[in-house]
Amino acid sequence: MNALKRKDLLDINSLSPDDIMLICDTAKYFKDVFTRDVKSVPVLRGKTVCTLFYEPSTRTRLSFELAAKMLSANTINVPVTTSSVVKGESLIDTVRTLEAMKADYIVMRHNAALAPHFLSKNIRASVINGGDGFHAHPTQALLDTYSILEKKGTLKGLHIGIVGDIRHSRVARSDAVAFTKLGAKVTLCGPSTLLPEEFRQYGVDLANNLDELLPELDIINMLRIQRERQKGSLFPSIREYNLLYALTEERFRKCKNGIIVMHPGPMNRGVELDDAVADSPNSIINEQVTNGVAVRMAIFYLLAGGTPLSEADAGGE
Ligand code: CP
Repeated sequence: MNALKRKDLLDINSLSPDDIMLICDTAKYFKDVFTRDVKSVPVLRGKTVCTLFYEPSTRTRLSFELAAKMLSANTINVPVTTSSVVKGESLIDTVRTLEAMKADYIVMRHNAALAPHFLSKNIRASVINGGDGFHAHPTQALLDTYSILEKKGTLKGLHIGIVGDIRHSRVARSDAVAFTKLGAKVTLCGPSTLLPEEFRQYGVDLANNLDELLPELDIINMLRIQRERQKGSLFPSIREYNLLYALTEERFRKCKNGIIVMHPGPMNRGVELDDAVADSPNSIINEQVTNGVAVRMAIFYLLAGGTPLSEADAGGE
């Protein structure tokens, strides 16, 4: 059994604080590998990684693919919209086809919550959840945690605000669980219609007034309004949302000097945050993307049976 003691990575709930720290500590070494001239290591040589995304993605799919390539895996991608899925092939038959091609790892994004959990019980390959419905986006939460650790050294004692369309956000759910597990105080903020009371189960505070919350925060994670997931009219207009919940330049001036601004992407510039804030020295939005590759390398490494690394272990070939 590997150091993570699991075949699959499906959610944050099933990870202990030690598991989260193991992934982040391992990612530190893979970031060294990723950012040097010779990037390849033979961790997954002879293995096949398949990405199977039923929803659009830029960052998650590409960074898994890049991480797998840098670990020397064979990589294949199922282009869902031009595959036999459009002819009605079921999820399980699609995945059995991949298994017949000897895929060892399947990274899946699906619009149905728990689809990766279903899959993991029915196949031999390791399944990694790249986002399932509103439910979970564990690798985003792990890269967000890593990014905060890189800047602050710890999450203990930090006050982290997650702002926006909380209701439809798998990132908010997974971040809330990861951040509180590592000792941060987390406040979720948005209009009541996008901030269900059920979120209190994650041990977080809920707030509707961003202007009151801002001066208290060490970290602010801005979320996208997910227009494609809105069923009814949960807020009057984008303009009104922007007036009350956008991180504008004016609001940014109310924040602590050293506040760190995060966003999982993709951003709606001018809707949830202004260009000047997104591109400010306080923003680590692009670093999150870089860190995502390192964290995903670490996840592959640990699921492949890797043991905890020391600095000397991150050797190249
Ligand atoms: N953050 C994130 O999941 O981005 P993508 O949808 O581009 O993968």
